[in-house]
Amino acid sequence: MAKDIAVDQLTEPQARAELGRLGDILARANRAYHTLDSPEISDAEYDALKRRNAAIEARFPALKRPDSPTEQVGAPLAEGFSKVTHAVRMLSLGNAFTGEDVQDFDERIRKYLGLGRDSELTYTAEPKIDGLSLSLRFEHGVLVQAATRGDGETGENVTENAKTIADIPKTVRGAPDVLEVRGEVYMSHADFAALNVRQIAAGARPFANPRNAAAGSLRQLDAEITRARPLNFFAYAWGELSEPLSDTQIGAIKRLENLGFKTNPLTVLCDGPEALLAQYRMIEAQRATLGYDIDGVVYKVNALERQRRLGFRSTTPRWAIAHKFEAELAWTRLEAIDIQVGRTGALSPVARLTPVTVGGVVVSNATLHNEDYIAGSGAKGTPIREGRDIRVGDWVQVYRAGDVIPKINDVDLSRRPADAVPFVFPHVCPECGSDAVREEGDAVRRCTGGMICPAQAVEKLKHFVGRTAFDIDGLGAKQIEMFYSDDLLPIKVPADIFTLKQRDAQNIPKLKNREGWGEKSAKNLLEAIDKKRIIALRRLIFALGIRHVGEAGAGLLADHYGTWGAFEAAVSSARVGEGEAWEDLIAIDGVGAVMAASLVNAFHQPAERASIDRLVAQLDVQPAQRRAPVNSPVAGKTVVFTGTLEKMTRAEAKARAEALGAKVAGSVSARTDILVAGPGAGSKAEKAAGLGVETIDEDGWLALIGDA
Ligand code: IVH
Repeated sequence: MAKDIAVDQLTEPQARAELGRLGDILARANRAYHTLDSPEISDAEYDALKRRNAAIEARFPALKRPDSPTEQVGAPLAEGFSKVTHAVRMLSLGNAFTGEDVQDFDERIRKYLGLGRDSELTYTAEPKIDGLSLSLRFEHGVLVQAATRGDGETGENVTENAKTIADIPKTVRGAPDVLEVRGEVYMSHADFAALNVRQIAAGARPFANPRNAAAGSLRQLDAEITRARPLNFFAYAWGELSEPLSDTQIGAIKRLENLGFKTNPLTVLCDGPEALLAQYRMIEAQRATLGYDIDGVVYKVNALERQRRLGFRSTTPRWAIAHKFEAELAWTRLEAIDIQVGRTGALSPVARLTPVTVGGVVVSNATLHNEDYIAGSGAKGTPIREGRDIRVGDWVQVYRAGDVIPKINDVDLSRRPADAVPFVFPHVCPECGSDAVREEGDAVRRCTGGMICPAQAVEKLKHFVGRTAFDIDGLGAKQIEMFYSDDLLPIKVPADIFTLKQRDAQNIPKLKNREGWGEKSAKNLLEAIDKKRIIALRRLIFALGIRHVGEAGAGLLADHYGTWGAFEAAVSSARVGEGEAWEDLIAIDGVGAVMAASLVNAFHQPAERASIDRLVAQLDVQPAQRRAPVNSPVAGKTVVFTGTLEKMTRAEAKARAEALGAKVAGSVSARTDILVAGPGAGSKAEKAAGLGVETIDEDGWLALIGDA
């Protein structure tokens, strides 16, 4: 066979076939290593194949393929799985860390539902599995699609891979015609250990923990690799259904079990916070012997009608919460403190540590929050760690809670080196030399360099291309850093991304001919960029990276203004703290004065503004899709609630109104359509009367929305 023949013995046809074979193997190895984080061959093997490929090309230059591996350094652009838009969004959970948080959770729900202290309110409690979530869609009893969570709205289509998992039924009998089952894919401790032995024997990198192993195994482009990996699945939730599974959470779980799904045997009903905490302790006591990783206990309101009423905040349900286990701890030495400059100029101290294993993961960096935290003082000057400061050379306690970045908890003064000195926090930006200042009430020191600070510019760009912003395939943090400092084809501001193609066309050499690139990777990138010229308004607003304007805030602004034109005109004409445009902005429920001021200031900052305008000129911004049902009598209306409501709580009233497409504002203005005034309504009712705004009582409101 050609693969066994020495390069100088190959005939031309053999060389052609061999270049094809090597190209395929190397492309696949690259993808496994860079894109899937799961190497399949050893580095030595990879290098040997690559050398053989180069030697053959040197002997037969005419046979060199356009997609030759010698032209491709580094990560190939992520191709692979197709995207799936979830019929019902896949959400994450809010966290509780203490018993008090759990009490608060129960109280919040009681308040929202208008239940007294003594009313019955039952929950389920079950382990929180530390794996990755998967949504399985069955139509007429047949598994037709499996998708990862992705950003919650769109995930990856991993149907073929999911079909190889024994715990997942391929057909179900007696199920609703449309049934989406959601749950967690995970790997047991025993299977994880055995897999790593095999990985090491094959010269591949071992996985850091069972969750990474499960994720790496499910997200294989070749389903046969997934088949060889021992994965399990627990069902615990659902998405779209053509008919309800039950009227309770526990009933629905039983039903899923009867349909053939594995559900967690530690799922129980609890009649209140005390019982939840008892179950939490019970599960925690069994944690080490379960044989798989869990990182907390999930509590869910049992009555599904109540779950429906409670609904969701932007990304988490009100009716469920994850009670996390205590963080894992370890002691190690603090070798240095580096200062990183973020997108909004924040100077963040990062601890460089002697590597230490915390809960199965090697940690060598941790956050130190801000300068007060290092000095040992908390908010409002109250001491933390009893006032002990943290110095380079100290022994420090590191902890990890779930997915979050490791933190430093404490310092051991008995092991402090004699020559350790207090850390001096810089007052100038380490990246651009501009002054770094702290505003009153802000714990964070910020670089004042704005657009001239390269660190801020790069971080802003990384945010811009992030998964929940523009999400451009093949343009991640690594590529942003490369392009930022590239002389030939620089990306300094977001607009530069969209002029890349045009600039490349005028350049010599072309991107495709440069080191690290090839014909295909360059073409893929330019195409991926072009695809994102059409962008949803909310994504664009979020992507701008304006301080205090997060995903939820961007969504509220997009829904309120509808189009880029309306949004841009309103924010440009607003003045902080005065006038109608300002009032209109802060009247959006969920948009406070802080977010509004930050937005208005950004739009009035000439350099920032010019950058935004240049960007938008390159885009086709899609208007916000109003989620309102067209036939709702309050769709598109702005409603204000005031006074006491008697039939439902304020929070529920607001959520219902929004579900019907109304905008709920916090204060009355000329733009208010309806004021719903309960007993005790004061100045808002007077203002509404003065402005001639229609005012109705709670019953009038219920009659209007057809709920009386
Ligand atoms: S319920 C709408 N139950 O935790 C609520 N999630 O932090 C949907 N998870 O994305 C989630 N075990 O991947 C639920 N018993 C459990 C869970 C669980 C693990 C994961 C899930 C979710 C994440 C949220």
